[in-house]
Amino acid sequence: MKIAIGCDEAAYNLKMVLKKHLEEKGYEVDDFGADKGEKILYPDVAYKVADAVARGKYKRAVLVCGTGLGMCICANKVPGVRAAVCHDSFSAERSRKSNNAQIICMGERVIGMELAKSLLDIWLECEFSEQSRSQPKVQRINELEQSHIKAAMKKL
Ligand code: RB5
Repeated sequence: MKIAIGCDEAAYNLKMVLKKHLEEKGYEVDDFGADKGEKILYPDVAYKVADAVARGKYKRAVLVCGTGLGMCICANKVPGVRAAVCHDSFSAERSRKSNNAQIICMGERVIGMELAKSLLDIWLECEFSEQSRSQPKVQRINELEQSHIKAAMKKL
């Protein structure tokens, strides 16, 4: 599986650790920046990664910043994208099984590198089931998103 990854300047080290971890596990990783020392606005990276996920280029992606929060907020602005901040194993599991999140967000200023690697492993191993009780809830997210877009278009 090909995985997209992105960070801002606050999480460059975490991105590189996770990228190496994924590559060692055999994943192909596409790096959307930021590069070392590059000053970048995290919304720009989050948007590029989320847009690529929404277009179906990637089934899974990783976004890291200082807290994971800014990346997550921005990624969730892209229709069709479900991003989740996961700093504990239960959230990592449930973000897949309950929410079908395609993007995991983490904060380098919040958790250590080893925990981040372990959470990423859990998250990658968990799958969403279309037959699960969570399916109608995720479907409802999609319906509400679509109705919001339609209402916004009418106002134009
Ligand atoms: C630094 O720009 C910091 O605000 C950012 O990495 C992130 O934590 C925002 O949510």
